[in-house]
Amino acid sequence: VAPSTTAPKSASVRELADAAGVILGTAMSAELLDDPQHTDTLIETFTSITPENDLKWEFIHPEPDAWNFGPVDRLVDFAEEHDLAVKGHALLWHQTAVHATPDWVLAIDDPDELRTAMREHITTVMERYDGRIDRWDVVNEPLQTVGAEVEDTHFRKVLGDGYLAEALGMARQADVDAELCINETTAELIPAKADALVRLAEGLVADGAPLDCVGIQAHLFGGTVEEGVIAGLVERLAALDVDVAITELDVPVLPDAPDPLEVQADTYRTAFAECFAAGCREITLWGFTDRHTWIDGYLGPGRAPLPFDEDYRPKPALEAIREELAWLADDADGDGTGG
Ligand code: XIL
Repeated sequence: VAPSTTAPKSASVRELADAAGVILGTAMSAELLDDPQHTDTLIETFTSITPENDLKWEFIHPEPDAWNFGPVDRLVDFAEEHDLAVKGHALLWHQTAVHATPDWVLAIDDPDELRTAMREHITTVMERYDGRIDRWDVVNEPLQTVGAEVEDTHFRKVLGDGYLAEALGMARQADVDAELCINETTAELIPAKADALVRLAEGLVADGAPLDCVGIQAHLFGGTVEEGVIAGLVERLAALDVDVAITELDVPVLPDAPDPLEVQADTYRTAFAECFAAGCREITLWGFTDRHTWIDGYLGPGRAPLPFDEDYRPKPALEAIREELAWLADDADGDGTGG
């Protein structure tokens, strides 16, 4: 949809994203809904939220007959109240250490039983949020974390490679209108993995699987991204006629490097510029304040990967994001001339 307004100079980041006609999202946990500093900054800055953990299988469906919808219900209500879109993350993710697949699912070795459990899970969750969650990571991280093969997950061991298309098909039956995505990590860091992701998406499309979108997580662990890599990957995926988005962007700083916050801002700038120029319609960050970031647990503290600091003050990275969106909003006719 072509945006009709040019944003005023004093526009919020959120207004700039709207004027540019793009989605600017953040991950969000229900437990932070009671912190007004957190919600106020979020509402002013973003146009979409993704539940950070509350939708993962073990959290929302911990036992075959036990459902824990409360946290996601609250997030979706909050989003509706503040006119934010919601992305669903993630219906299937094989990881067990992070509560993405509960033990009771791993214990199912019979293909028909596993299909039944998958279908019940996918259908129940998607139907509950029908019309309120508009796009879904149906399968998260189908490829090996470090490597270029399809990961041999429990689902693949029991159902074979077809499990991906089967899951997408179940999701399409549950909600004909939702956008259905696969989402992958480190494809922007490992060239062979980028090739594998393009091949995988290509195969799914060729087989007629209902794949609408591919997400590039973009946890930029090295603090930078090589020029042209994001543009190249987005272009190759977009050529398959699927929507492409950056879905979990964060940029841990290298603490001993000179000007770490400026390098970080440049990296955000590159990611935004290349993604949108190559045809992305969404960038979602994996959180927005250094006070609450999974990177503290994953890489250790002090890596400050997000565009607001621990006290919710904007960092140079936020200014870079603002400038990129302002440029895009001015260039809303898309002719690349900034006007
Ligand atoms: C992370 C969350 O941010 C953490 O709070 C949790 O402990 C583990 O999972 N790729 C993904 C996300 O797709 O779901 C992960 O989120 C980060 C890596």
